[in-house]
Amino acid sequence: MSAPVNPPPRLLMGPGPINADPRVLRAMSAQLVGQYDPAMTAYMTETMALYREVFRTANEQTFLVDGTSRAGIEAALVSLLEPGDRVLVPVFGRFGHLLVEIAERCGAEVHTVDVPWGEVVEPEQVEAAVAAVRPKVVAVVQGDTSTTMCQPLADLGEICRRHDALLYCDATASLGGNPFEADAWGLDVATAGLQKCLGGPSGSAPITISDRAVALIEGRKHVEAGIREEQDAARGTRIASNYLDLAQVMDYWGPRRLNHHTEATTMLYGARECARLLVEEGLEAAVARHALHGRAMLEGVRGLGLTVFGDVAHKMHNVVAVEIPDGVDGDATRGALLEDFGIEIGTSFGPLHGRVWRIGTMGHNARRDAVLTTLAALEQVLRAAGAPVTAGGGVGAAREVYA
Ligand SMILES: Cc1ncc(COP(=O)(O)O)c(C=O)c1O
Repeated sequence: MSAPVNPPPRLLMGPGPINADPRVLRAMSAQLVGQYDPAMTAYMTETMALYREVFRTANEQTFLVDGTSRAGIEAALVSLLEPGDRVLVPVFGRFGHLLVEIAERCGAEVHTVDVPWGEVVEPEQVEAAVAAVRPKVVAVVQGDTSTTMCQPLADLGEICRRHDALLYCDATASLGGNPFEADAWGLDVATAGLQKCLGGPSGSAPITISDRAVALIEGRKHVEAGIREEQDAARGTRIASNYLDLAQVMDYWGPRRLNHHTEATTMLYGARECARLLVEEGLEAAVARHALHGRAMLEGVRGLGLTVFGDVAHKMHNVVAVEIPDGVDGDATRGALLEDFGIEIGTSFGPLHGRVWRIGTMGHNARRDAVLTTLAALEQVLRAAGAPVTAGGGVGAAREVYA
């Protein structure tokens, strides 16, 4: 017989997932209730209110899409886009390519603004492309974990308004650890996940939707047979996915409580606790904590003599990419860190695989002890791999940041 689940102790210092906050794990071990139990619907309503605070929005339509972050992205794009719609995607890493891929599957005509990995896109580049393409939707990643870059968003909402486009943002990797202002920045739809700065497991995708975007999505509502009532005349082009049909999902979360999927109760408990943690700490304090520990890790890897990849001025607070020193086998060294110290750091994708490691300081692991332990262990495995490292340089530099 197989053994009960008993995972090895790990300190997850990669680009996510990270160790879940113990409070989130405790919330997730609570007993189930029925999906229309008043306790459950109250939890759903509270979760909506909590995520309005996390996204910094007054949007009524703020709730959870069941599934990992990618489900949130796909729900947003498939509910907004019809075949033939034009979309503009600034691509500055792997997750921009993911937006392209999903929009293409929706049948959209996709245009991109491409910059090299390690850079972000200038608002002027976006505006010129928007003026040329006239897209219905601009879809952009805030923090692209593949490169660690954090795209400035503050000007994009205004650009989209001027050109009558909707603005969608994937904030999976950045929300909770970097400034994010859904309303002040004029975002129409934003989605996230729990497994980065929110300190939870993957499996739930918080989403917020502006009134403009709600109107567009409701204009495509086709309530499914079997629960359809007289008032539910079909409108517009039917959304191509049933499970990710936000028009129906909004009716499930709204006062009508129209049956759709069975809400993933345990994930909702977890997502609610993630938001409670952030709101209790205060969004600004949480961002400041990520900035502090991110800076300590950045100075620490530099103190070891490593080179940081990309435009550091535009780096997310919660992850740093470091160039793997010449002659060092990146995967073998990561393996040694896991084997000898129980610490996980990340590799990267595509052109950066084997070139950089990604080290995260996020959520529950944006902590001084986690940063110092990781730097101390990294020094040892680098030394064992024959890399010239400055003895004590990593921990020393990080301690100076904390001092
Ligand atoms: C920016 C970004 N978007 C989307 C995803 C996909 O998230 P998930 O694996 O939860 O579906 C990730 C995962 O790392 C991410 O970093």
